[in-house]
Amino acid sequence: MDAWLTRWRRELALGGCLVVAAGILVVSELGHRSITHRYQSAMQSIATSVRLNTLSARLADAETGQRSFLLTAKREYLEPYEDAVPQIRKLLDELRPHYALHPDADAEKVYATLIAAIGAKLGEIDLTLDLTEHARIDRALEIVQSGVGQRTMDEIRFLLEDLSRREDNSARTIAEGWHASLALSRLGIALVAALNVVLVVALFFGLKRDWRVSNERQDLLNRHVRERTRQLDSLASRLQEAAEAERSALARELHDELGALLTASKMDIAWIRGRLGEEHAALHQKLARVIQHLDQGMVAKRRIVEGLRPSTLSTFGLATAARELTEQVAERAGWDVELELPEIDPQLPEEVEIALFRVLQESLTNATKYAQATRVRVRLGCEPLHCRLEVEDNGRGFRAGEMRSGAQGLFGMRQRTEARGGSLHVLSAPGSGTLIRALLPVQSPPCWRSSRPRESVPVAPAPGDAHGIAGA
Ligand SMILES: Nc1ncnc2c1ncn2[C@@H]1O[C@H](COP(=O)(O)OP(=O)(O)OP(=O)(O)O)[C@@H](O)[C@H]1O
Ligand SMILES: [Mg+2]
Repeated sequence: MDAWLTRWRRELALGGCLVVAAGILVVSELGHRSITHRYQSAMQSIATSVRLNTLSARLADAETGQRSFLLTAKREYLEPYEDAVPQIRKLLDELRPHYALHPDADAEKVYATLIAAIGAKLGEIDLTLDLTEHARIDRALEIVQSGVGQRTMDEIRFLLEDLSRREDNSARTIAEGWHASLALSRLGIALVAALNVVLVVALFFGLKRDWRVSNERQDLLNRHVRERTRQLDSLASRLQEAAEAERSALARELHDELGALLTASKMDIAWIRGRLGEEHAALHQKLARVIQHLDQGMVAKRRIVEGLRPSTLSTFGLATAARELTEQVAERAGWDVELELPEIDPQLPEEVEIALFRVLQESLTNATKYAQATRVRVRLGCEPLHCRLEVEDNGRGFRAGEMRSGAQGLFGMRQRTEARGGSLHVLSAPGSGTLIRALLPVQSPPCWRSSRPRESVPVAPAPGDAHGIAGA
């Protein structure tokens, strides 16, 4: 359940916000309708009160017209009566639907009584006017003086006041309800708005927390990736160092053991040959062949030893080894070669020399294999804090996408340089040649001297021996 809540809490909060927003709409719409309805009811009550007052006034007008006519018998005094009667009928017509739908059943009854009383009053007035017009004014006055009209009028006033009071009460009740529903509606809106704010704030903090957690996870992942990359780099560089150490050891073994054996064998055979008489021509010939094979074996051994660990590098240093290697490869490939190397070999840490030499080897190998170049330039520059090697050809160049999967050369160069805190840049484009630039830091400034402490190394290769161009 907890996991479910954690997983869906953002969706739940969003859904909650939507429901609350819909709630706000419904509450405000209902409040608006209720207020509108109450407003209309209140306006109707006020209009009814006005009509009741007008009705009372018109009845008074009708009675005044009746009295004036009875006293003067002049037709013009009848005018208020004649004006009032149609207005009274109209007002009664207007009030009828109001009381027909009135929620207070008593009010409807009172209204019915009022209509009857008004009918009686108008009937009494009509009768007295009719009698007056027919010269029976004494009879008309008699009816007026009997007080019937006065009592009817009192009853009408009473009924009108009753209805007015009811309308006032109804208007007051509506107004109170109006205020209540206004307050309720405001309270509802305030509540849902507050709830919405709470949900939005919760959503905001939830999102912020998610964001923080995902950032922390990302950081952790990045740290893991960095740590793994560092471990892999260090593993790769240890492997390279181990491979270099193996190569050196193998080169030494080959030189010391095999070289000594071959030399001793050659000397023994030469000794035997010197002691053989002329009559052993066939043996002479065989031994000469054996010596020849031993010489070929020594040349092959030197070549292998050089490929494993160039003796020039150990003996003279990077500049000389780079010159020798480049010239040999260029001669085989038929390139014009341009060399910019320090005149005096800088004394560099061994691993820097090896790394730069291997980069040079692989760059020249690649240029031979792929570039179809006619010109190659090799530059080596050493400053107090770093060494820079550049190998540039004017060949066909390449795009990064062209690199076949599983290619190790450029990757190995980059690995070698970066493992030692340096960098490798490969600049190339189809038709524009290729420039390989390796930059390696040198912890201690290089010493510019020609003689250097040397380790025991195989003999320098015989002139004409080729460097094997091994992968970097
Ligand atoms: N000087 C160059 N001129 C043209 N293309 C080159 C040059 N150097 C490298 N390339 C291209 O870059 C690719 C990658 O070179 P990289 O040395 O990494 O691998 P590789 O030589 O194909 O294989 P490996 O070195 O592992 O034997 C090559 O296959 C080649 O297409
Ligand atoms: Mg290669």
